[in-house]
Amino acid sequence: MRRRPLIAGNWKMNGLIETAQELVEGIGAALSDRERERKLQCEVLVCPPFTAIHTVHQTVSSKGYSMKVGGQNMDVEGPGARTGEICGIMLRNVGCRYVILGHSERRQFFGETNEIVGKKVEAAFRDGLVPIVCVGEELKDREAGRTIDVIRPQLEAVMPRLPEEASKRSTLVVAYEPVWAIGTGKNATPEQVQEVHAFIRKFLTEKLGADTASKIRILYGGSMKPANAAGLLALEDVDGGLIGGAALKAQDFLAIIDANPASD
Ligand code: PGA
Repeated sequence: MRRRPLIAGNWKMNGLIETAQELVEGIGAALSDRERERKLQCEVLVCPPFTAIHTVHQTVSSKGYSMKVGGQNMDVEGPGARTGEICGIMLRNVGCRYVILGHSERRQFFGETNEIVGKKVEAAFRDGLVPIVCVGEELKDREAGRTIDVIRPQLEAVMPRLPEEASKRSTLVVAYEPVWAIGTGKNATPEQVQEVHAFIRKFLTEKLGADTASKIRILYGGSMKPANAAGLLALEDVDGGLIGGAALKAQDFLAIIDANPASD
């Protein structure tokens, strides 16, 4: 099954209006060139902080860039008395199509459990957003040989929260992000990545059936950069990347897009 790769930038808590605008214009203009030359075969997504989403989306739509916009988190509830939260409908309202859920920084610093992430996945589908669900082990888990033992329950919590319709289920995106590789400069080796991605594909096949599982994109994230992107993106079960640090520089993000094997 041919899956359209997704190259997604997670800007995290970076980007004031001016810098966000500059970054999206830098990426967008170069994507338009690639598109004119029919060189762009992947889907490109940027996930700015909440405060910059509107500006970034306005720029993307007014200039016709081949880029989608997403959020980095959302609340489980709809609109209401939830001071400080942002719901899926609000993300849709400012042009988001995707939302990153269960990022390890949310799990680590904001106490998000597997159950909360599951509820957020249900809420995202309900509100018309495609969730990018992050899973991954910490260094101590990997060293203890418990990588799969950590990832399996992270995935299991999501399964009962998926919509009934197979066509919607297959839009789910999973991102494997080993926590020890995020922002550390240590990326997992291609062998380590393919092993976990193959496990995730097998898990999805068992739970959702081969047809749906073959359509679900599994991204790798964790210190992906121009120098290592080609080797990671070429792996059989890697369908794109979730990029943090390197997504903040247009040149680096574009180099990763260009490293995608489907782009040549
Ligand atoms: P990194 O972040 O590319 O800076 O390691 C990836 C992520 O946290 O999504």
